[in-house]
Amino acid sequence: MQKLLAGTLYLSSKLQVMSKTISGFSKLSKSKKIDWIVDTYFSNAEDAKSILKQYWNTNDKLQQLHDEFIENTITNYYLPLGVAPNFLINDKFYTIPMAIEESSVVAAASKAAKFWLDRGGFKTTVISTTKIGQVHFMYNGDTEKLKRFFQDVKPKLFKESEAITKNMTKRGGGILDIELRDRTAEIDNYFQLHVSFETLDAMGANFINSCLEQFAKTFKKEALNFDLFTETEQQIEIVMSILSNYVPDCLVRAEVSCPVEQLSDHSEISGEAFARKFIQAVNIAEIEPYRAVTHNKGVMNGIDAVVLATGNDFRAIEAGVHAYAARNGRYSSLSHAKIEDGIFKFWMEIPLALGTVGGLTGLHPLVKLSLEMLHKPSAQELMQIVAVAGLAQNFAALRSLTTTGIQQGHMKMHLMNILNQFEANDKEKLKLTAYFKTKTVTHNAVIERLKELRS
Ligand code: MEV
Repeated sequence: MQKLLAGTLYLSSKLQVMSKTISGFSKLSKSKKIDWIVDTYFSNAEDAKSILKQYWNTNDKLQQLHDEFIENTITNYYLPLGVAPNFLINDKFYTIPMAIEESSVVAAASKAAKFWLDRGGFKTTVISTTKIGQVHFMYNGDTEKLKRFFQDVKPKLFKESEAITKNMTKRGGGILDIELRDRTAEIDNYFQLHVSFETLDAMGANFINSCLEQFAKTFKKEALNFDLFTETEQQIEIVMSILSNYVPDCLVRAEVSCPVEQLSDHSEISGEAFARKFIQAVNIAEIEPYRAVTHNKGVMNGIDAVVLATGNDFRAIEAGVHAYAARNGRYSSLSHAKIEDGIFKFWMEIPLALGTVGGLTGLHPLVKLSLEMLHKPSAQELMQIVAVAGLAQNFAALRSLTTTGIQQGHMKMHLMNILNQFEANDKEKLKLTAYFKTKTVTHNAVIERLKELRS
């Protein structure tokens, strides 16, 4: 009986799943797509439809632009675009645009900017700008012969990709080098063309991938004509050609420093005590991966927000940064701190492959606006600004964590979210933000106070 019941349940859930599949969805018009979604998944189709429509832009052209960024667009997903003013970077002022949903991030960045404004600001340098791409392939044969073939074919790899590289080379970038790498110790027959690129103001993903796919074609074709190869050796098998988001040689450094005694603006803690505790917190993140992940998440709060606002690929940045944080075999802090000759120093070196041309940068109106707000930076300038946003965020988080604790500031910023959740009106919001200026914000305390106000 139980078996029968289980069988029936399985069948009905399978039917349910089947009834929610559709073929040819991408070919439907936008309104037909929405009809199918709301009819299939929502108990109140009209309500669901009106929420989706609320987020459409009334400017049809602008909406179409957003529709066409991806496939199967059904509406827009908004994130707030905030700004953190008062950043002094290499003696130049910036207001940094940040697209992020987390309530305390922009406030924390602004606070850190103001703190360091009075202490000389942020200093940054671009250490390197090299990006990497690889053609992964299988070769079954004599390695020495493959090396001879590679030397032979290398000029052709450059030559046959000239149609792709011409413009980039004219501007001073292009392919820096192509290496043959033997990885057969780890996987039988596995080799790589490991290629380094300079892509100037472009993030370079399309450029790099196009070059790599051309290398793969040339490499495979030329192998068929290489006299020294046996028939088996001629059959090079290309597995894939793709850029790497690990960019340890596309590095930027951001730092702040000041005499230890200038660190104090908390009456209850001296500059020296603050520096000592702050450095302890950094040291913990350097040796303890559980802490390092959260510490670096704080860095990425700042970085992702600017990366997103400036139309760059935050997933690529995240992947590359975390790989870099684990480069020595143990995941560790991105930032470091010390006291040297009475001077407190806090710094970070971080890989950031960013672009200020291509991709969304010339397409998304808010991205264009954000870049203009940043004085239309080159990719190298943007690397420096983004690194500063990360360091500032990390500084603000550690400062709170090692002094007042994080929740005080966090919950203050979260207060508006709680009030919105309970549909507080403007008057209630005004009264309660004033009330909680001097009180601890907790979910319960806000609800209690709201109830009192309403009764
Ligand atoms: C919260 O988004 C980020 C922090 O947890 C970072 C940190 O712990 O350093 C506050």
